[in-house]
Amino acid sequence: MNILGINAYHGNASAAIVCEGRLIAAVEEERFNRVKYAAGFPAQAIRYCLKEAGLTLAEIDHVAVPRDPYARLATKLFYAARMPSFARERARVLAKFTGIPEALAQVFEADPKKLKAKFHRVEHHQAHLASSFFVSPFERAALLSADGLGDFASTMWGTGSGSRMNIDGAVAFPHSLGLFYSGVTQYLGFPKFGDEYKVMGLAAYGEPEQMEAFREIVRFDAHSNGNGFRLGLDYFTHHRTGPEMSWAEADKTPTLGRMFSEEMPKRLGAARAPEEALEQRHHNLAASLQARLEEVYLGMLKKLAERTGLKAVCLAGGVAFNCVANGKIFDATPFEKVYVHPAAGDAGLAVGAAYYVWHQKLGKPRSFVMEHAYWGPGYSREEIRRAIDSNGIEQKGFRVTELAEQELVRRTAAIIADGKILGWFQGRCEWGPRALGNRSIVADPRRPEMKEILNRRIKHRESFRPFAPSILSEVTGEYFEKSHPSPFMTLAYPVRTEKRGTIPAPTHVDGTGRLQTVTREANPRYHALLSAFRDLTGVPVVLNTSFNDNEPIVCRPEEAIDCFLRTQMDALVLGDFLITKSGAA
Ligand SMILES: [Fe+2]
Repeated sequence: MNILGINAYHGNASAAIVCEGRLIAAVEEERFNRVKYAAGFPAQAIRYCLKEAGLTLAEIDHVAVPRDPYARLATKLFYAARMPSFARERARVLAKFTGIPEALAQVFEADPKKLKAKFHRVEHHQAHLASSFFVSPFERAALLSADGLGDFASTMWGTGSGSRMNIDGAVAFPHSLGLFYSGVTQYLGFPKFGDEYKVMGLAAYGEPEQMEAFREIVRFDAHSNGNGFRLGLDYFTHHRTGPEMSWAEADKTPTLGRMFSEEMPKRLGAARAPEEALEQRHHNLAASLQARLEEVYLGMLKKLAERTGLKAVCLAGGVAFNCVANGKIFDATPFEKVYVHPAAGDAGLAVGAAYYVWHQKLGKPRSFVMEHAYWGPGYSREEIRRAIDSNGIEQKGFRVTELAEQELVRRTAAIIADGKILGWFQGRCEWGPRALGNRSIVADPRRPEMKEILNRRIKHRESFRPFAPSILSEVTGEYFEKSHPSPFMTLAYPVRTEKRGTIPAPTHVDGTGRLQTVTREANPRYHALLSAFRDLTGVPVVLNTSFNDNEPIVCRPEEAIDCFLRTQMDALVLGDFLITKSGAA
């Protein structure tokens, strides 16, 4: 039985395909159309998933879409009556959404009447919860989804057991931890969709000196089964205007309207314009925002653990990308095991909706665990060779050498240890926003200046943003204060004090690192590279950042070569091919 999951007309449009309970492929549309966070209809992602599975559209039995127009209908109608412009935008998106079968047929030039697939609507947060629980290694777990807004809710919790999930509660619009974080992010002068992670990085530079104010901006809710929260709505506008998000355009990054009201600057001081310098006051506000997010998020998780008595938790939704908060779960709650879906944001809904249908609707038993994130396009040796030849890189002063794996990783480790910046392109593209050793830029973690060099030469991004470490999984506890696996870079742990001087480049200013733990099973070649680097230097860690330059992560070898040349990296590995400047080692 073949199930296609589609996240369409919503940020992070994506597709995934599940055959007999096994995930075959999952990818975001942005990797193909090269528009970050692209919304719209993910035609190219769907086409790729079908190709990877060797199926035609006619062979799909079920199509799962993560939106339920009837969820919280009363709340929707209440707000639609108060906010006509918001209602019009919703109606426009809904019209597109209900036309998904036709859109699908049109893209594949099929007769919609001949599609045998049954269409399923899966409520947004249940799709988030399914994306994490049903692919986790846990037979039983507590579940939490938290984001900005989806199907008029922002938060949902419950429990999972085998192939069933039970929902215990939810927080509805306009109360939202995601919109809280987005609103303050805008107030701090970062207006773009997806800027929240910049503010999370900034928070490490400040002191949370504004907790009193932030406890007014988000309050615990004593009336919601002990697990909810409410926004101080005076500080926001989205409950009056509707969250102004543009979703339906396939070729544009979504945009957000302003969400904070004049009360926020009155309480916290003047809002920062994007071009204004960042001062200590802004660092302290970011730290206060992060600290309050952690109080509420970890407080909810603690109550969830106490109420369910479960030791494992599955997380999804955009808030679950807050790796700093996730890293504190082990100390702040009774949970001992954590699974975060690698595409915890809305891209992951495609996988979640498909698994919701397979387990929750069809009652099929569990048989799959997502232990790695390499579910996107991969390229053969011949395709890579063709990309190299068609670029003519050898005529531009570069040497191309094809090597067996052992020699490849040995030479590559030496290049990294020599302080060079390396593009590393292998196998299938990562699912989710993190590069995890298949579309990565890799550098020496021992050099304190590496962060500044990468920011200036390659990434062209703010100096306060940290870089992440990849570590051989088996020695995680030697470098970090926690050793629970973090295969998808969704947890940040303190680096052991005595090791901070050893790996200064990916250690953030507060002494933490958003680590990726690498096992041989999940990524044999990346594990071999880390092992070769350890053999050479004694350090089992490399700095790992995504292979891109203010664009979606590269997908095809041609894009990797373009990015390599544009940003003047020192060396590039594409599959078995090592590309270096002529005359270099
Ligand atoms: Fe969401």
